[in-house]
Amino acid sequence: MGAVQPAERDGRTGAGEGRPRRGPDQYHDRIGDGVGDRGGGAIPARLVQALDATGVRVVTDAGVLAGHAIDWTGRWRGPVLGMVRPTSTGQVAAVLGAARAVGVPVQVQGGNTGLVGGSVPDRPSLLLVTTGLDRLDPVDAVERTVLAGAGVPAARLAAHAVAAGLRFGVDLAARESATVGGMAATNAGGIGVLAHGMMREQVRGLTAVLADGRVLSTVGRPRKDNAGYPLAALLVGAEGTLGVITEVELALHPTPPASTVAAVGVTRLADAVAAARLVGGPGAPLLAAEVVDATGVRRAVQALGVADPLPPDAAWLVLLEVADGGTGAGLVPVADLVAAVGTDARDRAGLWAIRERQTEQYATLPGPPVDKLDVSVRLDRLDALVERVRAVVPRAGVFGHVLDGNLHVQLVGAGPGDPERVLGAVAELGGSISAEHGIGRLKAAHLHLARSAAEVAWMRQLKATVDPQGLLNPGVLLADG
Ligand code: FAD
Ligand code: MLT
Ligand code: ZN
Repeated sequence: MGAVQPAERDGRTGAGEGRPRRGPDQYHDRIGDGVGDRGGGAIPARLVQALDATGVRVVTDAGVLAGHAIDWTGRWRGPVLGMVRPTSTGQVAAVLGAARAVGVPVQVQGGNTGLVGGSVPDRPSLLLVTTGLDRLDPVDAVERTVLAGAGVPAARLAAHAVAAGLRFGVDLAARESATVGGMAATNAGGIGVLAHGMMREQVRGLTAVLADGRVLSTVGRPRKDNAGYPLAALLVGAEGTLGVITEVELALHPTPPASTVAAVGVTRLADAVAAARLVGGPGAPLLAAEVVDATGVRRAVQALGVADPLPPDAAWLVLLEVADGGTGAGLVPVADLVAAVGTDARDRAGLWAIRERQTEQYATLPGPPVDKLDVSVRLDRLDALVERVRAVVPRAGVFGHVLDGNLHVQLVGAGPGDPERVLGAVAELGGSISAEHGIGRLKAAHLHLARSAAEVAWMRQLKATVDPQGLLNPGVLLADG
């Protein structure tokens, strides 16, 4: 977990981030939709001419484009006409203007670690990759903020904060590649949400080029600023449908004391929640509370070659991290339940590796890619959710951020229509079909399960005010039509 000492972070960097190897033959379509790779074709001459005037180089090399045309999961691949990698807000504005002038869709891509298909196009598009926006300013120690280019990876930002004696609040296993712009665009969560909230809570200000070319900047504003609509906040979680974020001013946090990680075995998620509620408090705050089901633990333990911390009769592994100075004192209230404990950096990292390995191990299971869903319910409905999921897909794997009510459901062995049935069950339980990954292309047709007709209509109206032609990230978040 995101914790604390640079050495520990180094040890865990990129754990579970290995991209699954998939060939084009393994491509499969989005949930309930037959849209696949329609072929990009040659870049139109009029687009090349328009881009020439911007001074931004267009990459058309097929080998380079192929690497960006497929998403991390291997489930999404789309036609890319050409790729640009602007290095300033001005260049982003110029590229959007050129594409708009010739009516060509633009697909925004950061680190391409998104898990809902939102980072690759589904129709011939110009790909705008943000990794060239990589400026990282010195930390403002008085304000406790830092200004980062949208293309700065999370791990680079976190190390920069640590070097200044502070901490970046959002941490995820994709930290080496996921960019702060992509994390803002998806309102990423991860394992630090309990302590610091999601990405939205970290964004103090941002600069973005709206789809219509206007530049919006709220960077450098005072912390309290209640003058009307929070327009910049609309960009957070908009998944690149309203504009391209070019820089983000992020809040940083004081470094917590050293921590202890406990592995607890439980039979129900209600017990996991109860255990997590027993620990934490002003003297030893709870930094993380995560769960992995027994099958996921056993697979990870085997792959990593580490000791299995799970008691034989337990159905779930719960990892609790408390900032108790590394003494273990923070775990006294759950002492009877603790199966393994990590007080030093190595043991803590060993326990966390089991959790962080989950994404990769499901991504590399033999056979077609496993459908992944990222859902949330109120805490008293977690066990009911798992029951409903396994009634549809008996071999479904589950792990996630238990105290956020957020489970990552891996539909191993699912049949046609099963993902929709699971999303329907989530909606019936009053939950959300996207807890932290976003809607992307994967769930665009199912947005009505989480938002009312009035809300969806308002989202569409909002989109139309900045992108009447529907050229920026079309089909992401809001389905066509
Ligand atoms: P991309 O994947 O490139 O893009 C994601 C979306 O944001 C797309 O719609 C794209 O168009 C848009 N976008 C990207 N950059 C910009 C920009 N500058 N301006 C406007 N729009 C933009 N997610 C979590 O929330 N919590 C986790 O714990 C977590 N763990 C993960 C672990 C692994 C191993 C992997 C592979 C992924 C994980 N993710 C997690 C998902 C992913 O890392 C996040 O969604 C992340 O925020 C995506 O960042 P990115 O830079 O890779 O964005
Ligand atoms: C996680 O918490 O590990 C992620 O959000 C990634 C996933 O769901 O696979
Ligand atoms: Zn997650």
